[in-house]
Amino acid sequence: MNFITVKSYDELSVKAANIIASQIIMKPNCVLGLATGSSPVGTYKELIKKCNAGELDFSTVTSVNLDEYVGLNGDHDQSYRYFMNTNLFNHVNIDKAKTAVPSGISDDLAAEGAAYDKHIADLGGIDLQLLGIGLDGHIGFNEPADVFTKETHVVDLHESTIEANARFFESIDDVPKKAITMGMGAIMNAKKVLLVANGANKKEILEKAFFGPITPQVPASILQLHPDVTVIYSEN
Ligand code: F6R
Repeated sequence: MNFITVKSYDELSVKAANIIASQIIMKPNCVLGLATGSSPVGTYKELIKKCNAGELDFSTVTSVNLDEYVGLNGDHDQSYRYFMNTNLFNHVNIDKAKTAVPSGISDDLAAEGAAYDKHIADLGGIDLQLLGIGLDGHIGFNEPADVFTKETHVVDLHESTIEANARFFESIDDVPKKAITMGMGAIMNAKKVLLVANGANKKEILEKAFFGPITPQVPASILQLHPDVTVIYSEN
């Protein structure tokens, strides 16, 4: 594992964007696994800059996102589809038809999960998976549990996740209680994993995840078994 500590969020964002840009340059038709949340926003801004400067071409890139809230459709301003459109896809030359976010409004979420996994498998898996980490150690929305779940599945969000994400909603009661998330199978099958985290409040969970025991109670700890993980952390 490559654990890089940097001095600022800006430095984190530039480094993470450089890694993603290298992936796209080395394999223009790559499959990117993408994340939402605060942590990758700066990374996406840097990627947009590179694309606008003519240094990066997304036209042959395919993407698959980690997760979506159950009950929110893609037009809802707190849905993860909306987040991806506004924070990245609308500003780069990616073909939106080649961007996938699980549907949180499907009538049959189990079938949606199975179809999502099939889509990822049909693409040949993920070349580079970008991740953030929750305060409880979740990656995607794989919350602490008794087992690691392999497939894309529906989860009950933990109280700490609902509290952490309430900042994006008018009130905590508006935060969806369930999400659909990629499972550990697709994440662990990704050829490369890049996890970005910032803030002093993430320090303890990063120590547990990357230097503690491997346990589904700290979901990100499974990444210790992945052969190619880069973590970029900024305390600020
Ligand atoms: C987002 C996701 C989550 C976030 C995590 C950290 O798609 O899957 O695992 O990465 O909750 O969120 P932030 O970056 O907002 O602290």
